[in-house]
Amino acid sequence: MNTTALVGAQWGDEGKGKVIDILAQTADYVVRATGGSNAGHTVVSGGKTYKLHLIPSGILYPDTVNIIGNGVVVDPKVVLEEMSSLEALGVKLDKLLIDLRAHVVMPYHKEIDELAELAKGKNAIGTTKRGIGPCYADKSDRIGIRMIDLINPELFAQKLKSNLELKNKIITAVYGGKPIDYKTVLDEYNGYAKRLERFCVDTGVILYDAIKSNKRVVFEGAQGTLLDLDSGTYPFVTSSHPITGGFCAGAGVGPTAINECLGIAKSYTTRVGAGPFPTELDDEVGKHLLNVGHEFGTTTGRARRCGWLDAVILRLAVRINGLTSLAINKLDTLTGLKKLKIATHYVRGGEIVNDFPADITLLEGCTPVYEEFDGWTEDITNVKEYDKLPDAAKNYIAAIERLAGCKVSMIGVGPDRDQNITK
Ligand code: GDP
Ligand code: IMO
Ligand code: MG
Repeated sequence: MNTTALVGAQWGDEGKGKVIDILAQTADYVVRATGGSNAGHTVVSGGKTYKLHLIPSGILYPDTVNIIGNGVVVDPKVVLEEMSSLEALGVKLDKLLIDLRAHVVMPYHKEIDELAELAKGKNAIGTTKRGIGPCYADKSDRIGIRMIDLINPELFAQKLKSNLELKNKIITAVYGGKPIDYKTVLDEYNGYAKRLERFCVDTGVILYDAIKSNKRVVFEGAQGTLLDLDSGTYPFVTSSHPITGGFCAGAGVGPTAINECLGIAKSYTTRVGAGPFPTELDDEVGKHLLNVGHEFGTTTGRARRCGWLDAVILRLAVRINGLTSLAINKLDTLTGLKKLKIATHYVRGGEIVNDFPADITLLEGCTPVYEEFDGWTEDITNVKEYDKLPDAAKNYIAAIERLAGCKVSMIGVGPDRDQNITK
């Protein structure tokens, strides 16, 4: 078997898109299994920057099959816009497949996401407002609309009618919003169905055969471990399982189908949206990470919150995802900082906390304890071999391996697919 699951080890935006694009060079299949257009994956190749939300980051290779799996929530408008902009750049879409069981993000999901956030006031989660939570809620409530329903006009009309009756009551009576017009949505989505029908298949069957015949399959994570509905900083999480276990359900494969689990982390930590962040920095170093690292969201453009690397988080990611190795991106962003820090553990009320707490109210009372390292000033963006990195950078990577309890197999020194060191 020749499969790798690539998973975010922090709060998302770890540079997964870049690493997937690198692995896709030798992949036969790239499979997205979770999340929706809340994801924003950046691929920089040949001087061009591609920003992908739903289409897997293997799309730039003409021979790679790219699958949007059953666990993804598909916004048809977004996926069609993405297809058009890729086609305009000369990218072929004939190897793109969308699973029939994938749920469809509807206009009322986006409306309710927006209204629910407003109603939460200071307790808002800071969602991407892409309708993700409401769509997954309908899936769990067994009233969701799937791709298979979308491409069946009679069934779609029925399901839309019953859903919209209920959703319009919620939008108007609960949130005081404006009702959504049935006919407008029906026409709009029938149009999407016509354009998407040819991509829709039972991808689980195709993937099963591919894995059995030893094809190279890469599972593309979206979001990150700390945004997982169960293991993350609940309720400040997304509504899916962006962890390796979630990829099985979301791609329709068994756990034995994954033999390598690569966790992607930055050399520091970022987070978009609300919720606790123990190593967050509100000082000159935080500004350095924001500005030098260009830490602005790919999907929403929001400034990302920045802080030191947190080994408590990395240990959680190693454990939950069964990581076999880590890729550390954006090592170049640390260049120029005199001293670097990694949180080794937390203290709370005089007690040592080694494991990420289940209760975020306890997490809020945790103070990180840091180990300090020397920085480096040399430009590392053109370094191609691990041995050519400055000693201080190698020392920092060795500390990550020791504190996370996991080897580092890749190091990112710039956004381009060539700016990557294999260790
Ligand atoms: P994703 O959601 O995990 O795919 O990550 P995003 O694309 O949202 O954010 C990561 C950002 O960091 C993107 O702008 C990437 O182009 C950029 N990036 C990825 N790896 C590196 C790296 O090693 N160095 C630098 N400087 N930028 C990187
Ligand atoms: P990628 O794949 C970073 C965050 C949102 C918010 C929370 C819930 O690019 O790493 P949602 O819209 O999912 O209901 O929002 O999750 N979030 C992300 N943060 N990267 C992402 O994806 C994210 N997807 C969702 O900011 O805090
Ligand atoms: Mg992103």
